[in-house]
Amino acid sequence: MNLDSKSEVSDWWQYLQTVAKQEDVQAGRSLQTISPSTPRTEMIATDVPIDGSANAVAGTEFSQINVQSQLQSESQLQSESQLQSQLQSQIQAESYLQRPCINNRFYLGEPIASGAFGQVFLATDSESSHQVAVKLEERSAKYPQLDFEAKVYRWLSGGKGIPSLMWYGQEGAYNVLVVERLGYSLDHLFQFCKGRLSLKTVICMTTMLLHRLEYMHNRGVIHRDLKPENFVLGLGEDSSVLYIIDFGLSKCFRDPVTQKHIPFREGKSLIGTPRYASINNHRGCEQSRRDDIEALMYIVIYLLRGSLPWQRLKHNSGEDKMKHFKQIERVKSSLTPEELCRGIPSEFAVMLKYARTLQFDETPDYMRLRRLLSRLFKKQMFTNDNYYDWTERMVLQTDM
Ligand SMILES: Nc1ncnc2c1ncn2[C@@H]1O[C@H](COP(=O)(O)OP(=O)(O)O)[C@@H](O)[C@H]1O
Ligand SMILES: [Mg+2]
Repeated sequence: MNLDSKSEVSDWWQYLQTVAKQEDVQAGRSLQTISPSTPRTEMIATDVPIDGSANAVAGTEFSQINVQSQLQSESQLQSESQLQSQLQSQIQAESYLQRPCINNRFYLGEPIASGAFGQVFLATDSESSHQVAVKLEERSAKYPQLDFEAKVYRWLSGGKGIPSLMWYGQEGAYNVLVVERLGYSLDHLFQFCKGRLSLKTVICMTTMLLHRLEYMHNRGVIHRDLKPENFVLGLGEDSSVLYIIDFGLSKCFRDPVTQKHIPFREGKSLIGTPRYASINNHRGCEQSRRDDIEALMYIVIYLLRGSLPWQRLKHNSGEDKMKHFKQIERVKSSLTPEELCRGIPSEFAVMLKYARTLQFDETPDYMRLRRLLSRLFKKQMFTNDNYYDWTERMVLQTDM
């Protein structure tokens, strides 16, 4: 099945969500099961052919019986467990081959997220049998971004905490970006930890993010849409590495040949997410490295305190968005770093003050910011053991 029409993907999306919901209701689970860390065994159990008919599940059972009898006659001597694992991989192979396919290689699976600009799915790479993440964007999108995002992925490739790009191209009505599959986003983990993270976890995450920003900035790119949803943990050996994703709104702030910084401009519209936007971004100034650092500081305060003061501003759906953004800007700029950081260590106020006073074309002192964090880490006598707020609960969950 190829992605020739838009309706194929949205049918697939809706179909999967209906199946997931039905299964969740039956099993008494929450929708958490369609998260990126769904154990492989559960993926197999929920694989059903996508013919949309009520007999889809029955179809899977039928093929299971055929596969089983064939395997038994071929190799009587194999142990029960060997048979079982062969059976499972064959069922998996048979079922994923019936899914929508990209570039004759990547078979779409469950949805991970539906964002403002596209949809992200899990998929199976038929060459390696590994899972990957696939981001789809309609080719007819008013403001296509995926082509640019793929270029940024290529440009940044090889950096620590930058996901590997596996393929970019067009399939049917879609632009498709295929990247290595990662784990939960910082937003998922924040929710998982009941809407607040500990000082130790936040120091470790912020230190990694400062490294990611330093790397990107050194390559001449600013992110411009920093938020917890765009930071994602790795999997397996990399499960304590925080990755940065979603380069759709990124921008080159320096000419790659002459190294000349882009000029300062005013009168621009806000780009990114208002909750974490820098004050200068609100005010219509061209963004540069300083705005990434300031946005990072609002994220850090949000993770530690559980909320930001401007979240309380009421916004009716019919109301003018610009008016709401203006209100956010007013509250944000009326609060001093000390006021915003009340109740959390003073180092964060120092960092925010520093971010707010950076010049447009100034190179941030990433090392100085990390040093503030490492001193605080030592002062608190934390141990560097990759043990975070979610570690224990995650292990328990994957063991089940
Ligand atoms: N490689 C990946 N592995 C696992 N989950 C991912 C991956 N890429 C994205 N996601 C999930 O999908 C969400 C949306 O992806 P993103 O690239 O940020 O798209 P959008 O532009 O729609 O925000 C992320 O917040 C994250 O939860
Ligand atoms: Mg995103």
